[in-house]
Amino acid sequence: MPVTPGDWPGRALTCCEASANQSGAAARRARGVTGSRWSRADSGRLDVSVPSMAEDKGKEMKLVTCTAPVNIAVIKYWGKRNEELILPINSSLSVTLHQDQLKSTTTVAASRDFKEDRIWLNGKEENINHPRLQSCLREIRRLARKRRSSGDGNSNTLTLHHKIHICSVNNFPTAAGLASSAAGYACLVYTLAKLHGLEGELSEIARQGSGSACRSMYGGFVQWIMGVKEDGSDSIAQQIEPETHWPELCVLILVVSAEQKPVGSTAGMRTSVKTSPLLKYRTEIVPKRMKEMIEAIKRQDFELFGQLTMKDSNQFHATCLDTFPPIFYLSDISKRIINLVHRYNSHFGETRVVYTFDAGPNAVIYTRKQHVDEFVEVVKHYFPPEENGEQFLKGLPVNPVSVSEHLKSSIRMEPVKAGIQYIINTRVGPGPQLIEDSNLHLLGEDGLPKQ
Ligand code: DP6
Repeated sequence: MPVTPGDWPGRALTCCEASANQSGAAARRARGVTGSRWSRADSGRLDVSVPSMAEDKGKEMKLVTCTAPVNIAVIKYWGKRNEELILPINSSLSVTLHQDQLKSTTTVAASRDFKEDRIWLNGKEENINHPRLQSCLREIRRLARKRRSSGDGNSNTLTLHHKIHICSVNNFPTAAGLASSAAGYACLVYTLAKLHGLEGELSEIARQGSGSACRSMYGGFVQWIMGVKEDGSDSIAQQIEPETHWPELCVLILVVSAEQKPVGSTAGMRTSVKTSPLLKYRTEIVPKRMKEMIEAIKRQDFELFGQLTMKDSNQFHATCLDTFPPIFYLSDISKRIINLVHRYNSHFGETRVVYTFDAGPNAVIYTRKQHVDEFVEVVKHYFPPEENGEQFLKGLPVNPVSVSEHLKSSIRMEPVKAGIQYIINTRVGPGPQLIEDSNLHLLGEDGLPKQ
């Protein structure tokens, strides 16, 4: 998938850390004296197999790389009661997608030799002084100092005094309504926490990067409890069920447009809070929906899960339309997908596939394993791909099946060529992960991005 440069300020641990010395000379000394193994990988990159922190403190650089997932809300977050702390007006609930298909990867390096904190996003250097980045850096450092003074955990005092370099990439198009900022900030916070040796609740910090990022701190099915405290300390994410809970649940992302969205979520929800009466009504509806959704997930009740998911997506987009001036995230193709889903389900007399849309035209479809092959075929039939276009189906494989004439005659829609650019077939996945392989660090031995 293409990677769009820049992005997320405006809005990945199992366990391994690697430390690298910045100069080749220091590397050779470290090998000779400490016995740490340094080798050249086939790519010619320096492979640091064993951390070597004791040697040559002045040149020491500590590197940590993690990945974090995208999450897609089934009960939407839209609207803040506190802009600075990013406190929402309602609780929300999401499904964490698998990182085999969609993830952010972040490397953080700390060194006494760095003159200033710096950040590169998707290959482009960005301004580290963005308030949301600063909030995350400040809160992590504050937590590290607190843990150190209380003698908790293995908080790393050395890295606290060093400047850091951050490099982050997404393997999916940025700002196309695929929650890039959520994965990005979750990854940043998780990686910084690993650098400083911090464990435990971190979603409160990720939330201050981007609201939805707090839900990407866990795998499986995750709620973000809105909380009531003014300082936001109870506005945190909690896992409802792990990624192994509902193995039949499958996710298809129908990428309608990989373009950047016209109105970002932050600006969009600010206008909605100011102008939409429907959004106020939503705050009364969501608590009951949250309870029902949690029940549906715990019971693996797809019918209820599906109905609630579609209704909540529709209400979110109705709120956008109720905003003044109105915000249009759904395109004509998005609306055709909505119709297709309803006609498909009504043909079978049950909810087999469900849609949800975030702040963009791409559809996220939840379904069960037994319906994936057929529904992908149906999508291909009604949105035939461009010949010689890019690969239409990405991610997990599907088996080709034929769509019955009976089904086609009850759907009765005109096909739209190239209406959907491609489909990503994925599933429910785990939370952030620490990357063990030091070849995968995004920063080189000079502390700068490798490419
Ligand atoms: C429509 O988390 O991107 O995806 O907190 O301002 O960074 P900020 O907004 P963001 O909003 C996501 C909104 C949504 C719904 C959701 O994910 O719950």
